[in-house]
Amino acid sequence: MCGIVGYIGYRNVTDVIFKGLTNLEYRGYDSAGLALRDENEIKIYKSLGKLVNLKNELEKRKSELKNPVSGIGHIRWATHGSASLVNAHPHTCNCGKLAVVHNGIIENYKELREELIKKGCIFKSQTDTETIAHLIAHEYANTKNLENAVRNSVKKLQGAYAICVMHKDSPDEIIGARKHAPMLIGIGENENFIASDTPAIIEYTKKTIYLDDNEIAIVTKNRVKITDINGNIIEKRIEILPWEPVSLSKLGYKHFMLKEIHEQPDVIRNELSGKLYDIDANVILNEVKLNAETLKNLNKIEIIACGTSLHAALVGKYIIEDLAGISVEVEASSEYIYRKTTTNASTLVIGVSQSGETADTITAIKQAKEKGAHILIITNRPDSNMARLADSLIPVNAGIEVSVAATKSYTAQLISFYLLAIYLAEIKTHTNKEYIKNLKHELIQVPAKIEEILSDTTQIQACAKQFSSYKNFIYIARGVNLATALEGALKLKEISYINATGYAAGELKHGPIAMLDETMPVLSILIPGGITYEKILSNSEEAKARNAKLIALTSSDDGNIANLFDAVIKIPKISEILSPAVACVPLQLLAYYIAEFLGKDVDQPRNLAKSVTVE
Ligand code: F6R
Repeated sequence: MCGIVGYIGYRNVTDVIFKGLTNLEYRGYDSAGLALRDENEIKIYKSLGKLVNLKNELEKRKSELKNPVSGIGHIRWATHGSASLVNAHPHTCNCGKLAVVHNGIIENYKELREELIKKGCIFKSQTDTETIAHLIAHEYANTKNLENAVRNSVKKLQGAYAICVMHKDSPDEIIGARKHAPMLIGIGENENFIASDTPAIIEYTKKTIYLDDNEIAIVTKNRVKITDINGNIIEKRIEILPWEPVSLSKLGYKHFMLKEIHEQPDVIRNELSGKLYDIDANVILNEVKLNAETLKNLNKIEIIACGTSLHAALVGKYIIEDLAGISVEVEASSEYIYRKTTTNASTLVIGVSQSGETADTITAIKQAKEKGAHILIITNRPDSNMARLADSLIPVNAGIEVSVAATKSYTAQLISFYLLAIYLAEIKTHTNKEYIKNLKHELIQVPAKIEEILSDTTQIQACAKQFSSYKNFIYIARGVNLATALEGALKLKEISYINATGYAAGELKHGPIAMLDETMPVLSILIPGGITYEKILSNSEEAKARNAKLIALTSSDDGNIANLFDAVIKIPKISEILSPAVACVPLQLLAYYIAEFLGKDVDQPRNLAKSVTVE
């Protein structure tokens, strides 16, 4: 949540920071602000809402700016204090000489605030961040050294922070510090950057240093010094970013979400290459660092994730149990961390996350690690904090995902689970070889089947138009596609704000059926050949009998489907076990087109953020 950019160098500082914030806007967008060092002063600009408002504010006041030489910027996703101008970052101290931007939550801010008020600090906002500004300003008054002032201050902070600080009397440096919130340094020639995520700097440099917890970066135009919390210099490795700037462009699509939906066939091909190239050969998954003997004896897996990644985990459970016969538990990270679990050294714990920065999942993974479990991380961000905790790391390589609603990272996670399940099944050797071979054959066909859906979306658009005025939806499915129903409903909810709920079809008559009438469409996922097809058909009949409008998502050629259902979204033929990888795509598109018809902000839905770095 929130985004930070800091810059010191020869370029137009305002442009660099504004561009950086634009590339981070998917992380949070309640308000934005920047502090610029200009003519020996710190000048602050803030605006409410989207970045375009900050652009207008800068434009309005452009005559005030002469030649800024450094600056820090922030986009906010409100935690402490409402989204308001006064709560927007940067925050300053009494004299306004210091500016700070912050991601994270300071847990002891109330106590610190009371102490600082007693010392004469005047607070203007309700944020925890303003406490940091006053704290550092106070330390600076004693030490006259910004680096030491930051160091002394962060020692007093409890909770999570990534901060970027500048001070009028310390003109040639910006200071960054982090604990439990991501922060990196971009290295340039005669310029350097600080950011909370790589898209902010990718246009200027691919050379990066990732800060670890309790590290402080002193960044000048020509030098980056990293120290630990006691001031000892740390030699850090420079890493080269894998992204290209072009991945941040919409490439002619109206929204990033639509572009990312269309990228899915290539993402899957890319993921399969090198791992599944011949259906007669075993799947290669060198990323799994447990030896074959350990995997053969493995009898418990726990998968921890949130949101869309949790839905991928549910598919993972189904297919690992089906193919490899290993018992799998799936749990939301936020639940896992607040109970006594039975995780132990013989458990394989899988963390799933597109961003690799989700605070709940990171905490859960750390807890599992402490219990001695082997940690396997499936993520789209091999450069993330979660990835660093991994004993085994499967990067899904979907390319950067800008739209807040996850699409291609979800299908990429699913493909990782299919590969993992087949890999485990081939090691366990008890699963029918022909079944696995057919599955591998079909898995290779998945990108082409998705392409078939993407090549003609008219039926999905028509369905979206027909149903966009409804306020409530129920998505039903059974078995492996229960996760597809949950994920389809989540997509609709998050980008169109329509109340959509995914249900196990068999559960419909145990309560939700009471809600059904002509105002509540029911979308059924029906994969013929699957063990639950007939059952879902009769669950749909039950809904019809209550006057609900019916939508079928199906690969069936059965003529009766068109009679029973009010709209039919056809998908190519596919076996039930693999169908989640294909069936999720029309549901992403249905959500997209409904949101589009309703004029919603598809890429940046309200109240959400791309990476949820607070618990
Ligand atoms: C929805 C979505 C979220 C995330 C969830 C967990 O489209 O993206 O539900 O899946 O916030 O985030 P990650 O996967 O980054 O751990």
